[in-house]
Formats: sequence, C-alpha cells, structure tokens
Amino acid sequence: MVDVGFGVSAVTTAELAAAFPSHEVLGLEQDAARVAAASLEFPSLALLAGGLERAPRQALVLRIANVGRGLSKDGVAELHAQVLPWLVDGGVCLEGSTDLEGHVSTFWVLRRVGGSLLREALVFHTDGARGFSPWLFRDVLPRDLRRDARAGTPIFSLLTDWETAWQATRSADPLDSLRASVAALATTRADVDARFLEYGFCRWRC
Ligand SMILES: C[S@@+](CC[C@H](N)C(=O)[O-])C[C@H]1O[C@@H](n2cnc3c(N)ncnc32)[C@H](O)[C@@H]1O
Repeated sequence: MVDVGFGVSAVTTAELAAAFPSHEVLGLEQDAARVAAASLEFPSLALLAGGLERAPRQALVLRIANVGRGLSKDGVAELHAQVLPWLVDGGVCLEGSTDLEGHVSTFWVLRRVGGSLLREALVFHTDGARGFSPWLFRDVLPRDLRRDARAGTPIFSLLTDWETAWQATRSADPLDSLRASVAALATTRADVDARFLEYGFCRWRC
C-alpha cells in the first residue's frame, strides 16, 4: 500500500500501516525535506523521497490525497493515466480530496482490470465533525468534478436527490442523518451503494 504525497507529516502513512499491519506500507513525498522530517517523527515507517516512480510495481492500494488539488482537469487525467502500471491486477487507486482536518472527503476508486483502469466509483465520507448535509461534499469533490457541480450534470443530480432524501430523514445527529439519507437514497437510485454505511461511507457508481 502506497501513500503518495503524504505532505507535511506522514501521519496518514502511519495510520495506513496501523490499520493494515499485515501489508507493506510505503510513504512517498516529492519534497525531500518533508521526508527527512517525517523519517525522524516515524522511524519505523518506510518513507522515500519522490513520486510514483519510487513505488513498487505491485501495489494493492495507491492512496493519493489532496495531491490533485492544484492540477488542471487535464493534469488529473494525466495523473490517473500514470497509476495503471503501478497497480497489481485488481488493485485500486484512491485519488481524492479532503477538508483540512480530514473530516470530510471524496475519493475516486480507480481499479486496475487487466490493462485498463476503470473509474469504478466515487466514495463520500465524513466523520460528522462538521455536521452533515450532502452539499458539504461540494467543496471536497475531486478536482476534475468540482466545476461540474451545476444543474444538468450527474454529480449535481446525485447531490440534489441526496438533499431531498436528507430533508425527509434528517435528525440532530450528523452520522445518523448521513446513514438515514443514504439508505433512503439507495432505495430510489441503483447507482448508490449503502453497503459501507456503517463505516460512514456512501459509494456512488458513476
Ligand atoms: C496538499 S499536500 C497533501 C498531503 C496529504 N496527502 C494530505 O492529504 O493531507 C500535497 C503533497 O503532495 C506532494 N506531491 C505533489 N505531487 C506529488 C507527486 N507527484 N509525487 C509525490 N508527492 C507529490 C507535495 O509535495 C505535498 O507535500
């Protein structure tokens, strides 16, 4: 499992290693000074300076969070095109964005199937710390979707339907509201998958 562009601290790489102790976890960061500082903070982690070219070619999961934020739509497409050779067949690249503290996030699930990279789903997650409304996700949509959140687009239609479901089911508790709204939405939309709701995830097969 590879955390690409871990940033100022390798805390997400450390969390990945703790969550999957039976897997090898590697953190990559193009800023060598950040790697040096993170290596002191987390001496037991495997951390390397550089980008995807330093990853093993058999990664099961590539996590790329908040790296595409500064890219253009074409830049994101280029980033997605680069990941294919680094994934094992069936492996996934999770490429997405979060708010500053990671309370709200969306990630593309890009799966390698043979020689192709399939855009399998968009996953929405929140821990409820910022309250809940479906439009909370608008600010953390992946870079290549953010400008699409306007009438007539699939993502706008999803968030609008989700808003309707939320208005009908909302309660004071943000996570209960998330769960109830997604469960209701999944009864009317076959592209919404509520199977991972107990972990706070809504999966949209777009
Ligand atoms: C905004 S920070 C995100 C950090 C962390 N992943 C997070 O979500 O909080 C983006 C980091 O990605 C690094 N970065 C950007 N492009 C990269 C690439 N192609 N390979 C490795 N690191 C990259 C930058 O140096 C920066 O530290």
